[in-house]
Amino acid sequence: MRVVLGIESSCDETAAALVREDRTVLAQRIASQDEEHRPYGGVVPEIASRAHAERLAPLIAATLADARMTLADVDAVAATAGPGLIGGVMVGLVSAKALAMAAEKPLIAVNHLEGHALSPRLADASLAYPYLLLLVSGGHCQVLEVQGLGRYCRLATTIDDALGEAFDKTAKILGLGYPGGPAVERLAREGDAKKVRLPRPLLGSDEPHFSFAGLKSAVMRAKQNQADYSDADIAASFQEAALDCVIDRTRRAMAAAGDMTALVVAGGVAANQAIRAGLQQLAAEHGLPFVAPPLALCTDNAAMIGWAGMERLMSHDFAPDPLDIAARPRWPLDPDAAPVRGAGVKA
Ligand code: KG4
Ligand code: ZN
Repeated sequence: MRVVLGIESSCDETAAALVREDRTVLAQRIASQDEEHRPYGGVVPEIASRAHAERLAPLIAATLADARMTLADVDAVAATAGPGLIGGVMVGLVSAKALAMAAEKPLIAVNHLEGHALSPRLADASLAYPYLLLLVSGGHCQVLEVQGLGRYCRLATTIDDALGEAFDKTAKILGLGYPGGPAVERLAREGDAKKVRLPRPLLGSDEPHFSFAGLKSAVMRAKQNQADYSDADIAASFQEAALDCVIDRTRRAMAAAGDMTALVVAGGVAANQAIRAGLQQLAAEHGLPFVAPPLALCTDNAAMIGWAGMERLMSHDFAPDPLDIAARPRWPLDPDAAPVRGAGVKA
């Protein structure tokens, strides 16, 4: 059976994994940079690039050793080639090129978003195309029809902040530190979601997209004018407002989508239990299966990059010459999607 070495370095996780075509993850290692970025309350690109450069080579060697393999046993090297912080992407991609060329193996350039989009198929062999995907991470918030490998139709995106960004900013406002999403979720469990009235941007709107900037500003005002409610109440109220938006917007996308095999969620925010539960219920209302990868596959990891590489290897769908592959800071999954209004629009 074929094995792909996956490499991820597009944000603040340095990761390597060995994925076999039967969906077994033979080995994987992740070096998180949380400690380096914590003092700054967010990811500092130059610090991230340096940390990737220091850690990636030994991490790959250790991952191979964990599986008692060498590069000779690997059928292809797959690396994130974008989108992401360009310094980190270049560290991973250039390393992958060198390894692939030295070992005379194919190099497969993986779109990080495709890694997230296909991660549910690594976890669940029965998940067939086409499926409706809510992709929610630190930089992206989109609903896509995943029609097949490399075939995506974007039905909605955010006109300002990504959902993970809204969680991270809420965490910052509440002094919960970095990374924010898990901390907000933990605190929300202790709060009363009815205590703080927060807006639900674009709820019920004909426009298909998401918006979270107004919600973030309202959280800021709620904290500044804190009255008879706790930080936990703010966190709970924020999470409920965000969830209401996610459900409303996804419901709208479901009405616009063609026949789908399942409702699927992926990306870092898919680790959130409240969001998973809300989507599960939404899928049930539509008589659709709901698929969410295990938590470790939601946040950035190399197994999903290895798996996307495996799907491309099996379909012979990759550029033949590694030297043709360039790092891409921006790389939309659906380049034909109509542009949307908004200043800070994420592709
Ligand atoms: O996919 P990911 O690891 O990196 C990107 O490609 O962006 O997503 C990271 C994002 C961060 O914004 C983080 O706060 C959020 O996912 N996140 C969560 C949770 N775990 C991670 N947000 C809400 N609840 C969580 N449990
Ligand atoms: Zn990601």
